[in-house]
Amino acid sequence: MKFEKSKQLWERASKTCPGGIHSNVRKAWQPHPMFYERGEGSHIWDVDGNEFIDYVLARGPLLLGHSPKPVLDAVKAQLDRGLMYAGQHELEIQASEKFCSLVPCAEMVRFSGSGSEATHAAMRLARAVTGRTKILRFEGHYHGWFDNQMWNFAPPLDKAGPREAPVPLPATAGQNPNEADHLVIRPWNDLTLVEEAFRQNPGQIAGVITEPVMCNTGGILPKPGFLEGLRDLCTAHGALLIFDEVITGFRVSLGGAQQYFRVTPDLATFAKGMAGGFPVSAIAGKRQYMQAFGDLTVTHAGTYNSSAPYMAATLAAMNMLSADDGALLKHAHDMGRQLMDGIREAGRRAGKDVHVRGVGTVFHVSFNDKEEIVDYRTSLGKDAAAYDRFWLALQDRGIRTVPGGLWFVSTAHTPQDVQQTLDAVAEAIKLV
Ligand SMILES: Cc1ncc(COP(=O)(O)O)c(C=O)c1O
Repeated sequence: MKFEKSKQLWERASKTCPGGIHSNVRKAWQPHPMFYERGEGSHIWDVDGNEFIDYVLARGPLLLGHSPKPVLDAVKAQLDRGLMYAGQHELEIQASEKFCSLVPCAEMVRFSGSGSEATHAAMRLARAVTGRTKILRFEGHYHGWFDNQMWNFAPPLDKAGPREAPVPLPATAGQNPNEADHLVIRPWNDLTLVEEAFRQNPGQIAGVITEPVMCNTGGILPKPGFLEGLRDLCTAHGALLIFDEVITGFRVSLGGAQQYFRVTPDLATFAKGMAGGFPVSAIAGKRQYMQAFGDLTVTHAGTYNSSAPYMAATLAAMNMLSADDGALLKHAHDMGRQLMDGIREAGRRAGKDVHVRGVGTVFHVSFNDKEEIVDYRTSLGKDAAAYDRFWLALQDRGIRTVPGGLWFVSTAHTPQDVQQTLDAVAEAIKLV
């Protein structure tokens, strides 16, 4: 495949925009950041005319595929009536009511614009309602790019401290180092160490925040009993359990991972997947805590929160996903499971040590794992170079996936897409 126009545009972009990209994570593309001009359903076209089956899906938000018509129609209908009012409108009530009817922990909900904002609000709320300052979080989890969030996502092991009690490490230059005083870091999937952390920080932990599936590192599922154990420990120690469902929300099941695993957190955050690709996020949870936003003791604000077209998109997306008892999402899971099974089978046939972890709509592929991947440190045992080769070979065959191993599947993917993808996988895997 040729990417000449993309290259030229990227060079031009770099003159007026740092790195030629408007989000640092987009740098990961090879051979250089790409430029696209059209997306439709499960397919995307770049400026060089290359067509891809898209399993990046904007890194999650396009759960309904590119440009889902009912969502666009709802937005278009609203556009003529105004964009923002700095006041309330009925669509946001309808969206809140629908949201609360679908998400188990959601007795109340507040909308905002990005996942980082929502998780920021959740941690603030946990601190406010408990009167404590510390947040327990897990190595290898991503909760956003703000100063209090971007810790120990991908720490270098020579600086990360012991597995049992990793030292807080900021992920970027310029981050406020004082945040470290209020963080307790532990490996995921190890309840004993979480219990110990509560004992070592008596009456100090305001909340435990976790991705319920470790989508950002290895697609790792919780061990049986782990989420339930977190629930019990938080209850026993007076801390709030916060699920970061920015990826898993609406994607793992209609009610998120909390419904899938039947563990109800005190607070949960949502973003990608809830508004058909429009920038909407949510913090939801129990009334007794959420009410602190309502009585203004805890600030949650945002000029762009719940703007009318975005609420129209949110409501339309939730209506699509919940119609016919969630038929669209079931279809997406079905397509995803066929892909997961097909990739495993292709590995078996080609004699390659391939590992596929996750659920149908979001899963992770790796090669030559050194040991069972259950947390951040064990995830480092995968063969990243082998996956890079696979990833590039797939890109050359018109299959677009996230660099590093993550695959997102949408309701728009078809059995034909799956077949075409598995044909490409069968060829690409031989090059690993
Ligand atoms: C689990 C999780 N939480 C929070 C965020 C931050 O969301 P946003 O990029 O919308 O700020 C992300 C983004 O990838 C995420 O995956």
